[in-house]
Amino acid sequence: MIADRLLQWYDRHHRDLPWRVSPPMAARGERPDPYRVWLSEVMLQQTTVQAVKAYFALFTERWPTVVDLARAGTEDVMKAWAGLGYYARARNLKKCAEAVAFEHGGVFPDSEEGLKALPGIGDYTAAAIAAIAFDRPSAVLDGNVERVISRLHAVEAPLPAAKPQMRALVAALTPAGRPGDFAQAMMDLGATICTPRRPACALCPLRDDCRVLGRDDPELYPRKAAK
Ligand code: ADE
Repeated sequence: MIADRLLQWYDRHHRDLPWRVSPPMAARGERPDPYRVWLSEVMLQQTTVQAVKAYFALFTERWPTVVDLARAGTEDVMKAWAGLGYYARARNLKKCAEAVAFEHGGVFPDSEEGLKALPGIGDYTAAAIAAIAFDRPSAVLDGNVERVISRLHAVEAPLPAAKPQMRALVAALTPAGRPGDFAQAMMDLGATICTPRRPACALCPLRDDCRVLGRDDPELYPRKAAK
């Protein structure tokens, strides 16, 4: 199965990131902290993993829980955010922390629907938190995943129109066991192997499943609508 092959690859090659619980830790029963998953996902929208690491460390040292962040001064949070850009995100971050802390007793909702009702949490972020923090089998589709799925299935429809089709393909691949690791494995594959330019197909755990490889140039996927 495609998901099994991908998860085996992830077990060996996952990126160690500060908001993650690595597969060996997960095997010992550790779960990621929803606060850390949420914070990282908001920071990772439009900002690279490398740039986010330092900000993530700073925020979690200063405000270790969502209640701490909710009680922080808005000015302090905005200052700490400086450099990450998109200040509307910082404002929503604070509003979301307050909603979780004061309206949900400090506990993040564990469903996509519940998460989407919070300030600043859209389709992508809700799906990512539900999968990664709560192991819900939600279909997580970001730019990396769009690239992987469009090559794997040779999706000929262009972005953005192809998104619903891509989401359905990801949903069909997402396993009932370890959906959070599956989502992050798709992201890691897109970031390290199935890259926009010169993908490392020889190293890809899904090379035998890939409909584009050997038939067309992977760099032509995902297809983009003509401008
Ligand atoms: N980009 C967005 N979310 C991510 C995650 N959880 N791991 C790696 N890259 C990501």
